[in-house]
Amino acid sequence: MNVLVAGGAGYIGSHTVKRLKEAGHQPVIYDNLSRGHRAVVDILKVPSVQADLNDRATLTKALRDHRIDTVMHFAAYAYVGESVEKPLLYYQNNVATTINVLQAMAESNVGRFVFSSTCATYGDPDVIPITEEEKKSPVSPYGRSKWMVEQILQDQAVADKNFRFAALRYFNASGCAMDGTLGEDHDPETHLIPVVLQAILGVRPKITVFGTDYPTKDGTNVRDYIHVDDLADAHIAAMERLEAGRPIVCNLGTGRGFSVKEIIQTCEQVSGKKVPVEYGARRAGDAIALYADPSRAKQLLGWEAKYKDPQQIIQSAWNWFSKHPKGYAR
Ligand SMILES: NC(=O)c1ccc[n+]([C@@H]2O[C@H](COP(=O)([O-])OP(=O)(O)OC[C@H]3O[C@@H](n4cnc5c(N)ncnc54)[C@H](O)[C@@H]3O)[C@@H](O)[C@H]2O)c1
Repeated sequence: MNVLVAGGAGYIGSHTVKRLKEAGHQPVIYDNLSRGHRAVVDILKVPSVQADLNDRATLTKALRDHRIDTVMHFAAYAYVGESVEKPLLYYQNNVATTINVLQAMAESNVGRFVFSSTCATYGDPDVIPITEEEKKSPVSPYGRSKWMVEQILQDQAVADKNFRFAALRYFNASGCAMDGTLGEDHDPETHLIPVVLQAILGVRPKITVFGTDYPTKDGTNVRDYIHVDDLADAHIAAMERLEAGRPIVCNLGTGRGFSVKEIIQTCEQVSGKKVPVEYGARRAGDAIALYADPSRAKQLLGWEAKYKDPQQIIQSAWNWFSKHPKGYAR
């Protein structure tokens, strides 16, 4: 299929472009490079459009010129803290921009849509592992922006019989391409594994662990780390199964939770080096433990995570970070 990958120069989008190519599809990157990387476009060697998704004329032209069948929509801002400080920026870029994309698709007769949603739509869940039926109670403008889009997609699927979609709620995306060609490079970087590896590599002075008194196995937060190539494969499976009148809404996780301390220890094992750790107070808004019940994804997509052992995920990240300690271009 011809797939417009919105946000394809970012972390998860770029890995999905690579897997799409390997699976015989024709991806086109559409990205304004506000938070993505020119280097990714050069590495992936696929057609690309550098433009904002709000530029309707350019977007519509890209949909038509490349005879797009499916839009995979990774483009968004994704920092919880920034979303609290700048909610309008988040509602503008995550909600209003998505509406613009949906309008351009409708005008161009493109009906297939795969959306990057998040476990942040659940907020602080009552029941763990988290099923898709858990209440949606996001605790940040970021989480709310994603839940708003999911509701908009449900409405659009009722109104437009040509429109079919998947909303995939990722847990903690992690790891880098297994062949070492693509990596993770956010600025600022807030994700645990890159931050620990950069501290090991001396790019950061230390890592701070926020809270050691949580009611978990060792007092630190527990999260579900899902390899970015597994996420990419789930998108392809979802795209291939889209049907009118049957939205696909599911969690993408491994179903296993690992604590901050376990991840730090595994990073030390994989790299063979110690990391300087500072233990601090709890951070406002951090849920105690979040991990998925991934059974619906298995049932609907025939997909489950291949990389369930954090050792494999961290090894793939270490392969890349040890060669690119400061990311692609810095
Ligand atoms: N990384 C995670 O752990 C995680 C977890 C859950 C959900 N998500 C969601 O997955 C998606 C991808 O996350 P990521 O970590 O790859 O983010 P990223 O910042 O690396 O990639 C997002 C890309 O979108 C582009 N972009 C943003 N706004 C745009 C616009 N208006 N027009 C054109 N391009 C635009 C950016 O330049 C960037 O390349 C996001 O929607 C995020 O909310 C990520």
